[in-house]
Amino acid sequence: VDWTPAERAAITSLWGKIDVGEIGPQALARLLIVYPWTQRHFKAFGNISTAAAIMGNEKVAEHGKVVMGGLDRAVQNLDNIKNVYKDLSIKHSEKIHVDPDNFRLLAEIISVCVAGKFGPSVFTPGVQEAWQKFLAAVVSALGRQYH
Ligand code: HEM
Repeated sequence: VDWTPAERAAITSLWGKIDVGEIGPQALARLLIVYPWTQRHFKAFGNISTAAAIMGNEKVAEHGKVVMGGLDRAVQNLDNIKNVYKDLSIKHSEKIHVDPDNFRLLAEIISVCVAGKFGPSVFTPGVQEAWQKFLAAVVSALGRQYH
């Protein structure tokens, strides 16, 4: 993936504004609520039977932060996302058996959370373009080891 200087600046600047302890839990909770088939991977997390239970579940919140930690590695390695995500892709494919289409859904949800948090003055069309290009690179890298 090639990044223009403006895209790099937009991605790192937006990332610097994101509170991973806020957006991570919110995004994973929304994934589980909006796309309930994703719940099957999180049976070990206890009660996720209603939207309220999902939003109040500590393990969901914790894992939301872990996912955002994965995104941080991508932001810090914009020119090498494919390689830094190799093991993560193998894990999601061979151990967790997540359908890779769900990566795209989570990426879309993360964008919704970020847009809702920052609004049009920060999440401008130009920032959105760079951000979604970044998430598309993440989704592609996560899906690399599937065959
Ligand atoms: C684990 C990142 C999407 C299900 C993880 C881990 C990271 C991560 C960093 C921890 C890996 C480790 O401990 O070695 C991401 C990123 C995603 C993504 C960046 C997309 C933007 C998904 C989706 C699902 C999922 C869509 C399911 C629908 C899981 C599960 C675990 C996991 C079940 C193991 C949880 C546990 O038992 O600790 N993910 N993930 N991930 N991920 Fe993902």
